[in-house]
Amino acid sequence: MNKILVIGSGAREHAIVRALDRSPQEKEIYCLASNMNPGIAELCDELTVGNINDPAFVVSYAKETGAALAIIGPENPLANGVADELWNAGVKTVGPKKDLAQLETSKAFTRDLLKEYDIPGGPKYQTFDSMSGVVEFLNELGENYVVKFDGLMGGKGVKVSGDHLHSHHEAIAYCKELVEKGGEFVIEEKFIGQEFSLMSFCDGNSLKHMPAVQDHKRAYEGDTGPNTGGMGTYSDANHSLPFLQESDITEAHAINLATAKALKDKFGEGYKGILYGGFMATANGVKLVEYNARFGDPEAMNVLPLLASDFIDICNAIADGTLDQVDVQFANKATVCKYAVPEGYPDSPVKNKPIDVSKIENPDGLFYASVDIKDGQLVEAGSRTAAIVGIADSISESEKFAEKEISSVSGPLFHRKDIGTDEVIQKRIDHMSELRG
Ligand code: GLY
Repeated sequence: MNKILVIGSGAREHAIVRALDRSPQEKEIYCLASNMNPGIAELCDELTVGNINDPAFVVSYAKETGAALAIIGPENPLANGVADELWNAGVKTVGPKKDLAQLETSKAFTRDLLKEYDIPGGPKYQTFDSMSGVVEFLNELGENYVVKFDGLMGGKGVKVSGDHLHSHHEAIAYCKELVEKGGEFVIEEKFIGQEFSLMSFCDGNSLKHMPAVQDHKRAYEGDTGPNTGGMGTYSDANHSLPFLQESDITEAHAINLATAKALKDKFGEGYKGILYGGFMATANGVKLVEYNARFGDPEAMNVLPLLASDFIDICNAIADGTLDQVDVQFANKATVCKYAVPEGYPDSPVKNKPIDVSKIENPDGLFYASVDIKDGQLVEAGSRTAAIVGIADSISESEKFAEKEISSVSGPLFHRKDIGTDEVIQKRIDHMSELRG
């Protein structure tokens, strides 16, 4: 009997639980959640709401349930050492220990690692904890720079020239704000191109790669408005993306593999979890924008429904270091995922308002995220509310399905109609053709 604990309760964890549930193996699934997610609750033996960031509490819940395997969804438990304590308590864990999760929790750590191990894809960068040298380095970079807070800020710590910072004056003001907070930060060269996510299962030695996905971070159509956790994503039936060349995928795979090897060398033990490279395809090849130490959200909702192999076998193999013995296959289908988010999201979202999903035609394509049940009614809880995934032979067909379904969800919500449309995909292709000449 497989007793599995899933930590986290967003749409990503709903996708994780669905993939586990599809396994024909005998199993009991438990979820330690931040909120009451009815989609996860329906599939689990038990869902308990508690502090998922408290290692001692997570371990005590794991012991209570008898879980032998844990899967950590979000980044904050990783940053707090939940994986370390689970392993110490004898629970095999998918999700890196705290030191290895620095790949996501410290921007400076990742840049230094790539430099130390001569891994391609890094920008020109410098790390700061005061204003000393900031003006000089900005002058060296000119108009194309990025300022990154060196820690977790829910995707809001990164400010990019042209998008969020419109002059060196604004960049300097942001750096001063970070210094006042007492934080370190990285200033680096801005890459010009198209971003894509390439996630790999990693057991510390071997990697098995997932299909490439493109996310849309800005809140409003036309890639405008504030940054969010991600408003929607798409993937293509050939597991690449329409604007990528074969060499881009090969280079991204090679960077993930080299990074996993570097981590093993540095810490003497391997990274066991999901290695999520945020890449930029540029005129000069693939560059690494950042690493995350978990499944992407929404990316998990694109790739996990396509997984044709047994997810329980994959998770056990990640923990046991036997991933090379597992055949990992994904269906050759295209996907489009769109998030419905509360009106006012991300800056001043409405909360606790009822939403209605009863008009959804395919409940298997619905993933609940920041929702709650109040007086027996489904309400939005203030962050990304629910995601819809369309799966078909082409991105275009998947988009039409996802758009129709998400438009049927009622309540004070909005979504981006443009994600995955033919027009937006063509823009991405044209942009890359122009850059590549
Ligand atoms: N897709 C963005 C993230 O998961 O951080």
